[in-house]
Amino acid sequence: MLLTAEEKEMLEGKHGKGNQTAMKIQVAIGESFHAGRMVPISRAHVALSNQEADLWFVEKLLDAGAYCRISPTVNPGFDLEYFKKITTIKKEDEDTMGRTGKAYREIGATLTFDCTPYLGSNIPRFGEIVAFSESSATPYINSVWGARSNRESAQSALCAAITGRVPEYGFLLDGNRAGDILVEVQADLSGDHRYQLLGMAAKKIGNGVPVFLGIPRDVSPEGLMNLGAQLNTVGAYSMFHIVGVTPEAPTLEKAFYAKKPKKKVVITDHDLAELEKSLISYKGPIDFALLGCPMLTISQVGDIAKLLKGRKLKVTMYILTNSLTKELAKKMGYLNLINDSGGHLLKDTCMDQPPFWRDMQGKFGVTESPKCAYYSKRRDINYAVMDIPSCVEAAIQGEIK
Ligand code: F3S
Repeated sequence: MLLTAEEKEMLEGKHGKGNQTAMKIQVAIGESFHAGRMVPISRAHVALSNQEADLWFVEKLLDAGAYCRISPTVNPGFDLEYFKKITTIKKEDEDTMGRTGKAYREIGATLTFDCTPYLGSNIPRFGEIVAFSESSATPYINSVWGARSNRESAQSALCAAITGRVPEYGFLLDGNRAGDILVEVQADLSGDHRYQLLGMAAKKIGNGVPVFLGIPRDVSPEGLMNLGAQLNTVGAYSMFHIVGVTPEAPTLEKAFYAKKPKKKVVITDHDLAELEKSLISYKGPIDFALLGCPMLTISQVGDIAKLLKGRKLKVTMYILTNSLTKELAKKMGYLNLINDSGGHLLKDTCMDQPPFWRDMQGKFGVTESPKCAYYSKRRDINYAVMDIPSCVEAAIQGEIK
């Protein structure tokens, strides 16, 4: 790889041992993808997991003196103070969360604890080269904002934040951003939940960059968030195009960079109905409800609050969002409505964290997120997946009717 004088200095350790380790990792990644050079980044997002391996990595770099040139936003762990009020937190979990916050603060991250930075705290401009990890974040910033990032891991994104560079390969290069698969959507897409189902059609769509035709121009940010999150739960997608909606797809021809599609797939109402059936195969009592994977926007939190107004929940309901949205929900009176119904609006919290997996093991809940249901299965926490109003109603009734 061609390195600048400064990059060579980093590799030789002249900018400190932590910076050298990060650069070594990035050069190795670059070489394995045949990158010709490194290029500067202006933003990063690190999908920290608040689990042992993640903590080991960041603490190792920190101990070696690493510091972020580009302050990355970070994924959620859990809201330690809030959980301490509502449940018992094990000492080891408290320690891990405390150490995670400390390590990322000291290495220079911006502690957003949010898995949807692309909707608020970290929005790149068109063409900007960035390093984003997190399964719903990478497709959103590539596809919707037209920024350029590979599908980074938490570790490679942290290294990029430290060196301020990424190896130039993959989705940073024009040719690799061309569409591969034409996906003609003939299904009804009214409501954001339908985009969860469309994303779940990844198996039928197959590998490559999908170009969707037939998605309405007024698709909401939440619909686009759901689409990317589920595409990347069932498969592995760094970007998609939507003709007439996303910036690199003003026309079908431009989305394919004037090449022919490698294959064509049609998604019908029948496909989505089959996928939906696989998600709700249960009627009867539930133990809890969990909404917000990815974290919910203020409009979604507002919708839930209005549905809960003047009603009481029969089972525990957790609603996950970022701290800025929780603050806004307080100002708008939504937090009071949620609290009055017995629900919990949690900030900084991912559903795949100890307070959930320790308390909910063996239980059955409802969620709006196929991603949440998929990840939780391995911990013996099971879900029926339904749209948000149906989840709220089930939590009020204490059962799926
Ligand atoms: Fe966010 Fe955790 Fe789901 S990071 S997308 S709440 S798995």
